[in-house]
Amino acid sequence: MSGHARAVWVAVAESGEVGRHLLACNAGDRPLVLFRRENGDPAALDDECWHRMLPLSNGRLEGDQLICAYHGLAFDPEGRCVRARLGPPPRNACVQAYPAVEAHGMVWVRIEMTEMPENGGSIGLGSVRSALPPQ
Ligand code: FES
Repeated sequence: MSGHARAVWVAVAESGEVGRHLLACNAGDRPLVLFRRENGDPAALDDECWHRMLPLSNGRLEGDQLICAYHGLAFDPEGRCVRARLGPPPRNACVQAYPAVEAHGMVWVRIEMTEMPENGGSIGLGSVRSALPPQ
């Protein structure tokens, strides 16, 4: 194993599963939260709040903002914290966002992986389904 990170497109959900709600899924061992922006494009963020690392997938959508269920920080689809319940958002508050596209009836997320599944192939629904780039 080389230990070098490699960017791969990973199919993480079927297109029909992703909507105007928060969907928890995994890319390998990385927990993600998916949703559709108001314009229909998919968005993918780490499923871990900047504040206390609790799952963002327990939150809710307001427009294109994901509102954390625990203390109300709001994150945009690029992972920037744009709002807090009391006062301005904390400086440097953010979560990792990933490029997400739809192709072949699936939502694909571009992530860096240091370990690839055997043969670069499927290791199970809800996990890395394929490591092929969308066309
Ligand atoms: S854990 Fe998300 S705002 Fe506190």
